[in-house]
Amino acid sequence: MQLWTRRQKVAAMSEAIEPKPAILLVCLGNICRSPMAEGALRDAANIAGLNITVDSAGTAGYHIGESPDPRAIATALRHGVDISGASGRKLSEEDFYNFTHIFAFDKANLAGIKARQPRHGMARVALLLDVLDDSKGKPVPDPYYGDDSDFEDCWIMVKEAIDALVANLSQESDKPAT
Ligand code: 4NP
Repeated sequence: MQLWTRRQKVAAMSEAIEPKPAILLVCLGNICRSPMAEGALRDAANIAGLNITVDSAGTAGYHIGESPDPRAIATALRHGVDISGASGRKLSEEDFYNFTHIFAFDKANLAGIKARQPRHGMARVALLLDVLDDSKGKPVPDPYYGDDSDFEDCWIMVKEAIDALVANLSQESDKPAT
């Protein structure tokens, strides 16, 4: 028999009302933008002491089971984040039930995600840069056909959005349960 403390009971009850945030970052190939964003979000959430689920996926299945692009790994590492253990996967129907938020990187991703969205999926789907008031509707350009500086620019854009997202989620989690 499991005996719960009062704190555990309150946490379980509030989670039933307001599920723990679960963030899925979805680009096209799941080897450049989304694994960098996943690494940045894990790192920022850890630093903020925020208890969230984080994962990434691609709308295409070109790189299933592959490590992130070496340029993405090197860029993240320069910023103190190790994403070398990530493995590419494709967005699935269950993701729309298992995640509270799904973030796309550009309009094509967004369309690809929405095309797979089941009618009763719970996840809120949006562009990642929509979390920044002055960048709503803007894409994070794909650095795959670019060079190291495109990967660096990508990290900077993603990191700004991720920090804003963590600040928003931290504020939400600080609100008293009603
Ligand atoms: P990502 O970049 O969507 O940021 O992971 C890409 C990676 C691979 C391909 C396209 C985009 N590809 O065509 O293989």
